[in-house]
Amino acid sequence: MLLEVSLNVDYPGRPGALQDLQFSMNEGEIVGLIGESGSGKSTLALALLNLLDCKSARVRGSIVFEGRDLLALNERALRTLRGQRISLVLQSPMSALNPMLRIGTHFKEAWAAHSPQRDAWKQSACPLLNRVCLPTDDAFLNKLPHEISVGQAQRVLIAMALLHSPPLLIADEPTSALDVITQAETLKLFRELNRDLGTAMLIVSHDLLSVSNTCSRVAIMESGRIVESGSVRQIFEDPRHAYTKRLIDAIPKMPWAREPALQG
Ligand SMILES: Nc1ncnc2c1ncn2[C@@H]1O[C@H](COP(=O)(O)OP(=O)(O)O)[C@@H](O)[C@H]1O
Ligand SMILES: [Mg+2]
Repeated sequence: MLLEVSLNVDYPGRPGALQDLQFSMNEGEIVGLIGESGSGKSTLALALLNLLDCKSARVRGSIVFEGRDLLALNERALRTLRGQRISLVLQSPMSALNPMLRIGTHFKEAWAAHSPQRDAWKQSACPLLNRVCLPTDDAFLNKLPHEISVGQAQRVLIAMALLHSPPLLIADEPTSALDVITQAETLKLFRELNRDLGTAMLIVSHDLLSVSNTCSRVAIMESGRIVESGSVRQIFEDPRHAYTKRLIDAIPKMPWAREPALQG
C-alpha cells in the first residue's frame, strides 16, 4: 500500500470539510477523485501534502505514505517530501508559473530544490520535456510563461512535477482551465506517463466522464466523505450510491440518444 488515509478536517467556520474520510492507493495506481464543487477534493489534495496549516484548518487522523504518518513529520521533513516523493499539479497552469521566470529557470529551481548537483537539471528535464511533447531547445527554455500556450504551460508543470520521479503525483482539476481538445490530450498524457513511469496518480475532477478513460479506479466524494470507490467499469455498470447514480444520470447524452420528446 502506497497511501492510507483516515481524516477529519475542520476549517474555522466550516466544520466537517472532511468527515471520517477513508481512502487508500496502491503503488503505480491511477485513481480519479470525483465530486462536485465544495465536496472537499482540494482539501484532501492539500492534506496529502500536509499543507492545510496555511489555511488554519484543524486536521485529525492519519496519512500514512510509504509507511510514515505525514501528520507527524516536522516542516523540514515535509519540505524534503514535497516535490520529491509527492508532487502537485494545480488547476490553473498560468498562475502556477512565475511570470518573471523563464521556462528553463523554473526547471532549474525545481531541480535545485532537491538536488545538490545544480547543473544537472537539463539531463533530467530534457527527456521529460520530450516525453510531454515540448521542445528542449534554448529558444523554448528561454521563453517566459506568457509566450507559451495554456496547454503547453500545463505540460511544463506536469514535467516539473515528475522531475524527481515521485512515487505519487496529485493533480487537482488539472484540465479545468483547458479547452476540450487540450483537456483530452492532457488526460491521455497522464495515462501514458502513469503507464510508462509507474508513478501513482490521483486525478481530481468534478467530471466523472472525462477521467473515466484515464483512470483505472474512481473514488466518488460527497460532502467530505468518499461514498463509493471501484473500477471505472463497476462504477458505471453497477453504481451503489445514490449520488454516484445521479452523477452518471447527469452525463450529457448525444442528441440522437435523448428522449424523443426533447428532440427537435
Ligand atoms: N480556508 C477555508 N476556510 C473555510 N472554509 C473553507 C476553506 N477552504 C475550503 N473551505 C470549505 O471547505 C469545503 C470543501 O472545500 P474544497 O476542498 O475546496 O472543495 P472542492 O475542491 O471539492 O471544491 C467547502 O465548503 C469550502 O467552502
Ligand atoms: Mg477544488
